[in-house]
Amino acid sequence: MSADTIEHNRKRFDFSGIKSIWLFGYGSLIYKVDFPFLEQRPASIQGWVRRFWQASHDHRGTAEAPGRVVTLIEQPGAVCKGMAFRVSPSVFEHLDVREKNGYLRFSTTLTFESGGHAEGLVYIATEDNEAFLGHAPEADIARQIATAVGPSGPNSEYLFRLADSLRTLGDECTHTFAIEACLKKNS
Ligand code: BEZ
Repeated sequence: MSADTIEHNRKRFDFSGIKSIWLFGYGSLIYKVDFPFLEQRPASIQGWVRRFWQASHDHRGTAEAPGRVVTLIEQPGAVCKGMAFRVSPSVFEHLDVREKNGYLRFSTTLTFESGGHAEGLVYIATEDNEAFLGHAPEADIARQIATAVGPSGPNSEYLFRLADSLRTLGDECTHTFAIEACLKKNS
């Protein structure tokens, strides 16, 4: 699948008649909230882990020197904490462009930290997209992140901001924190 997912996402859901929908954020959506929302709640989804396995050519790296950003990988029994936003469907006109490098919107069940569940959407870059890099040792991922810079800024800033947000949310994402520790050790 081509890495540019704007058209794929536009065709994926019929939002007619829908006034608002929950969106689960597990990466930059947690700390870069450049879209309007009606409500915001800490939440989690089951069966997924966060991994820095997706290349960023357009935000935190370039075509010549891509950065690494997060996607979700299926893992039975896992819980991924993040932030849920209740948004108007029009928000996706902006977010589908912002997250165009390989991310498709999927339906998911959100569990709110305060209790209760809701159906919502989550952006996932699956392994069949052209920008999927896959597994690498965390020390190697840290080395790639340390040098990558793109139009949105240094890849390391993305990592550090996400790690701080995950601490605030109480997500024990050992993968993110291991990469953060490597980056701090070598800086
Ligand atoms: C998120 O924070 O949920 C997100 C991460 C990468 C791409 C799109 C969304």
